[in-house]
Amino acid sequence: MADKKIVLSGMRPTGKLHLGNFYGALKNWVALQEKYNCFFFVADLHSLTTAYQQTENLAVNTEAMLIDWLTAGLNPDKCTIFVQSDVPEVSELNTLLGMITPLGWLLRNPTYKEQIQELLKQKYAGQLDEKTLGEKLSSIAGDDEISCFGFLGYPVLMATDILIQNASYVPVGKDQTAHLEIARDLARRFAEIYGEQVFTEPQPLYTTVARVPGIDGRKMSKSYNNAISLGENLDDVRKKVMAMFTDPNKKKANDPANPEGCVVYAFHQIYNPNAAKRCEECKAGALGCVACKKELFALMEPELTAFAARRKEIENDKGQLAQIVANGKERARANAATTLTRVKKVMRVIK
Ligand code: TRP
Repeated sequence: MADKKIVLSGMRPTGKLHLGNFYGALKNWVALQEKYNCFFFVADLHSLTTAYQQTENLAVNTEAMLIDWLTAGLNPDKCTIFVQSDVPEVSELNTLLGMITPLGWLLRNPTYKEQIQELLKQKYAGQLDEKTLGEKLSSIAGDDEISCFGFLGYPVLMATDILIQNASYVPVGKDQTAHLEIARDLARRFAEIYGEQVFTEPQPLYTTVARVPGIDGRKMSKSYNNAISLGENLDDVRKKVMAMFTDPNKKKANDPANPEGCVVYAFHQIYNPNAAKRCEECKAGALGCVACKKELFALMEPELTAFAARRKEIENDKGQLAQIVANGKERARANAATTLTRVKKVMRVIK
């Protein structure tokens, strides 16, 4: 494993994962563990950058995320799975990198600006008049309790996650581009200031992701109640598939219909090598929705069965889960400590 390039990625523990997360990211991670020395971690500290007042579910959500990852097929014999807060070296390097991060980089970060505006809008929805809300939104300094030091520093902590493990590649969504740029800039800036190239400049690994709508046609999301979760009971999934949104103009099985916008068709595109043919049949009125849904469920069944079996095994053996996380912690700490020691030497914070 030692000669392979390092890949690292993380997710904030937001609760149970669904098929959208699987096809959007996890499936790619599962493939990457075959080729690279992969580190995957639950970014529990990052979730505190916004949810610092509601920490009651932090531990539960962290564990749920680990279970979902194993359910999806991450294999602890092939990759390192760990929890961010289990690696105190991260917090130490975060402090050091914070010293060399110009405030302007963080204040100008478009993700920060968008996120804070979104959070403020949610918080004050219907409570403030347009003008007051507008003023709040345009003030980045903000007296608001949302704009905390840790939140502004989100990209520094993320850069730390990446640089401390010496990652060459970071699989992320396009929404993380600005954050990754800051990680690269910090790697360069460190070398410019201290004259030594300690960090690897990480490259993003974007994957072309399949669009997975929720069963009602909106974006798949827990909060919309339209998601199929990883390892969900097969009978429940069958019901959800049979209830998927289809072209409302198709009333009878042999009515011709428009598959664009049909959820069943979106899923066929993921699971069915004959999706294009089904699309033509649907348009020609030669394929009824019930038959189409049944075929889809049959195609999904092997993967769903594998998910459910893995989930059961993991949930029934919490001792094994604890061992996986302990091993991950040990490997992640060892790798992080190597980088941290070099950084401290170069910055002369140790003799
Ligand atoms: N910011 C990432 C997200 O919201 C999560 C994350 C934290 C991450 N640290 C990271 C991703 C390091 C990749 C590498 O999705």
